Amino acid sequence: MLTLYKHHFLRLLDFHNSEIQYLINFAKKLKKLKKDQQEIKYLKGKNIVLIFEKESTRTRCAFEVAAFDQGAHVTYLGPGNTHLGYKESIVDTAKVLSRLYDGIEYRGHDHNVINNLAKFSKIPVWNGLTDQFHPTQLLADLLTMQEIIKNRKINEISCAYVGDASNNIANTILEAAAIIGFDLRIVAPKKYWPNRQLLSQCQLKSIENKGKIICTENIAKGVKNVDFIYTDVWVSMGESNKLWTKRIELLKKYQINDSMILLTKNKNVKILHCLPAFHDNNTIIGKKILEKFNLHNGLEITNSIFEEHSSTIFEQSENKLHTIKALMISSLIKIL
Ligand code: CP
Ligand code: NVA
Repeated sequence: MLTLYKHHFLRLLDFHNSEIQYLINFAKKLKKLKKDQQEIKYLKGKNIVLIFEKESTRTRCAFEVAAFDQGAHVTYLGPGNTHLGYKESIVDTAKVLSRLYDGIEYRGHDHNVINNLAKFSKIPVWNGLTDQFHPTQLLADLLTMQEIIKNRKINEISCAYVGDASNNIANTILEAAAIIGFDLRIVAPKKYWPNRQLLSQCQLKSIENKGKIICTENIAKGVKNVDFIYTDVWVSMGESNKLWTKRIELLKKYQINDSMILLTKNKNVKILHCLPAFHDNNTIIGKKILEKFNLHNGLEITNSIFEEHSSTIFEQSENKLHTIKALMISSLIKIL
């Protein structure tokens, strides 16, 4: 029994394996229908509000294009554009939006805000990223992994997450591995391992689903024979710039570079990154940090590895569109 219809999508652990699998398979179908110009508009007449309290390129565009493709209309409320939490309570805002819209996308800071918004909203609330979780990202990543590893099921793949393992992407990949039951290795210095309680909860769930989650500081052990290495930025949105010094000092060993690729002993290993990435000095922040710390070849990933694997990485970005579309249709329409 699927519980996606009329439900919020706040974090992956709220869902069953079959529901996540369903969304991935549905997204795959929607992707093909769009490419064949045969898309069916399930969301005609629906109104969606997108609240972004932090910046975004992919997530906002994926929600907007998915809505437009499906015949829905969107309102975008960017950082500082609403009274939410500042002049109007989350409860009152949830009540107002529930009278005007059919669905709410929310990107913000503390996960408790989205929990509260959802509690008082009569319409589905979708998490477009909080400090703790980024579940729509992982839907796109799982679809990408499934497309690459065609001859095995998604629970049979292995992935090493390297770098800052205390952030929203790391927490969400933990939850994904727990539900799906794939082999996940968190490869990071202990200081940046995930929250202990979340880790134990995910490890227990993963055993139920015949999976395995380990945390290690040992790069060779962590990446050996993996199908995928996933990384993310070392300082996330909303975190202080003062953290860069400590993060670089502890995380530079965990950069995806040629030596890490050799340690995988898998010449077909694929690289994943949710983006944006600091792989070169073509951004204001990237340039500043690379110069300040006298680094020349990217931060969390070297430029050459990024370029070599860019088709996979940009497929992840595109897949946000198809998976977010699958999610919106499944929460708003009963037909499926
Ligand atoms: N990966 C991701 O969420 O990108 P944006 O911040 O551009 O939405
Ligand atoms: N951890 C990153 C993810 C960006 C998609 C951040 O929160 O900034």
